Amino acid sequence: MIIQNGNTIHLQGKTLSYVMIRNHEEDLLNYHFGAKIPDMDYASDPDINKESFPFFRAPAEHPNLSSFPQEYPAYGRAEQRHPAFQLVNALGNSITALKYKDCRVLKGQAVEIPGMPAVFSAGKSDTLEITLSDDAIGLTVLLHYVVFDEYDIIARSAVVVNDANKAIVLRFAYSCCVDFPVGDYDLIHFCGDWGMERGLQRTRLHKGMKTEVDDNTGRGSRWNNPFVMITRPETDENHGEVFGFNLVYSGNHSTVVQCDHNSHLRVMQGVSPTSFRWELQAGESFYTPQSVICYSSGGIGELSREYHRFYKNHLMRSKWVIRQRPILVNSWEGAYFTFTEDTLLQLAKTSKEAGIELFVLDDGWFGKRDDAKSSLGDWTEHPAKFPNGLASFAKKLNEMGLLFGLWFEPEMISPDSNLFRAHPDWVVRVPQIEPIQYRFQYVLDLSRDDVCEYVIDAVAKILATVNIAYVKWDMNRIVCDAPCEGYHHRYALGYYRIMKALTERFPEILFEGCCSGGGRFDPGVLAYMPQIWTSDNTDAVSRLKIQYATSMCYPLSAMGAHVSAVPNHQTGRITSLKTRGDVAYTGMFGFELDLTKMTAEEKAEVAQQAEFAKHIQPLIRNGELYRLRSPFETNECIWEVVSQEKDHVFMMACRVLTVIMRNRYFDPKVRFRGLDPDAVYEDAATGARYSGSLLMNRGITLSYEFKDFATVNMELRKI
Ligand code: DGJ
Repeated sequence: MIIQNGNTIHLQGKTLSYVMIRNHEEDLLNYHFGAKIPDMDYASDPDINKESFPFFRAPAEHPNLSSFPQEYPAYGRAEQRHPAFQLVNALGNSITALKYKDCRVLKGQAVEIPGMPAVFSAGKSDTLEITLSDDAIGLTVLLHYVVFDEYDIIARSAVVVNDANKAIVLRFAYSCCVDFPVGDYDLIHFCGDWGMERGLQRTRLHKGMKTEVDDNTGRGSRWNNPFVMITRPETDENHGEVFGFNLVYSGNHSTVVQCDHNSHLRVMQGVSPTSFRWELQAGESFYTPQSVICYSSGGIGELSREYHRFYKNHLMRSKWVIRQRPILVNSWEGAYFTFTEDTLLQLAKTSKEAGIELFVLDDGWFGKRDDAKSSLGDWTEHPAKFPNGLASFAKKLNEMGLLFGLWFEPEMISPDSNLFRAHPDWVVRVPQIEPIQYRFQYVLDLSRDDVCEYVIDAVAKILATVNIAYVKWDMNRIVCDAPCEGYHHRYALGYYRIMKALTERFPEILFEGCCSGGGRFDPGVLAYMPQIWTSDNTDAVSRLKIQYATSMCYPLSAMGAHVSAVPNHQTGRITSLKTRGDVAYTGMFGFELDLTKMTAEEKAEVAQQAEFAKHIQPLIRNGELYRLRSPFETNECIWEVVSQEKDHVFMMACRVLTVIMRNRYFDPKVRFRGLDPDAVYEDAATGARYSGSLLMNRGITLSYEFKDFATVNMELRKI
């Protein structure tokens, strides 16, 4: 709901209030972001209207904006802290001062952001548009707030409009700024690398500290995810206030967190200023991506569930968001580049016998690709591996009763490729400097229309002629050698243009994002692809942390999770098939191993796992996630999914290392959450019955096997 009351603009969600006020000089100030407060005009609040020591300035002077919380701080006049945007104006300096002009409400709508994904309304939101301007330099800034009555979520973005009659240069423009009052706060962010994505970091913020959580690798979230949380020091999984910021963007991003000299906290999120520059001719506009901000008074768990619900209903467009996903086998770890049509058909046959539904052919099927050194860009089947063509291979799979899925890395070009020989100028590079190769490949210049059209056509040609049910969209290197400042944003726009074209043209295909594992796991990708490969690290024990941290913002239905072979190819660790299956059940389940090399007992276990994964998937996709014990803090990882009706429950627990157990009575109990306390639940495997209140209040002792990496899973039904 959007309420205007005098000089106050009040946005209300389910339980949140976000309040802005205009002061006597038409500066737009943050007043409150947090739990709901009454609707009234707060503009006369002495807190915001007067400085504590009025003798510091004469009444005629302007307010010292560096002491006030601001909605979209400008640079260089009354504000000296980190600004929300900075530009070189038509006069050649970078001073700006934005004043409130007016606002309007777009009922039942969400904003569309040209060229970029954004949350959609489905008639469930209103949008507030505030106009700020600096008439002295000819600048307008539009602030957009998409507000949902049913969620504690506001999607913010900004548009910078050059109203001068000369060009201006934008140095950076954040999507949002929130200034929090003096207090103690923690910052939680998600930092990692290949095989260890989204490592959870929690840091106390101190006076005088400015930190930036950014990623400038050109591929979204390799090192830092565009998701941060600000919490109170006492906030934990189930209690306390938490504020989330998540950017709907897959390019270089930045979240600046400044705890100033007075302990005011400023948080801004947007496109990274690193190597950014955007020239705006007279009358032109720059659109920022959207930052989805979320509030919870019930701890991090509640915030996660809010993001999950919201993204499934108002961000992710694919038909597959609500569809049962096929249980897949992916050829990568089982075959890598070494396969023939016959070996694949053998693997497919064994997979089908185990109840697998979708056969995904990973890297190595095109051009003359037998290793990573060639053929990216040449999207036609490898003639020696598929002498009868890919369509014929797909037909054989379909005849076996399997769906066919295919891997692509369309943003790339190998120096050893026909595409490169024909178009050496399509590589991202500075003309005078030899571009850097990573994994023997270059990046295609997606800032060019003709290159984007080539990519769309090359992929579409295969999707239109081969019966393909699933696409894995990979991206295996950084984007560097940028030919100009602002290039990474142009690249991101090209990527979205391609994703939009292909997903709209092939709406029945299930797309899974990938980026050397989970290096591009963000809401921008989710807007087009309902699932993302979470990590190349398929070791079940490593996956505990990776999936646990990923779930802080992103739904379980977005996480690809596979059972792979042991010793694990990334860590060398040996875990049981049960452990690997149990950990993968709480994602979009699949296998990634050579089933033809398994024993009859193992194949039987795989078949049981495929069966169980199909059975439990509706709960995993639609249920509410409760994280019960953290692998970042304890020797265990326990999570639980509860159906919306509270009548179906799945709990997965893993104890990483064996500990001595003397007496079950004293052993730690797992206490469930989110159940119906008055209901009786039955364990589907043992028939044991428990009351909901016992499960939640006393808890139960888990019977782990006496070994490292043991897991217990439990499916409960309300009776
Ligand atoms: C990186 C991906 O994360 C893997 O799953 C696999 O598809 C390889 N690329 C193939 O090159």
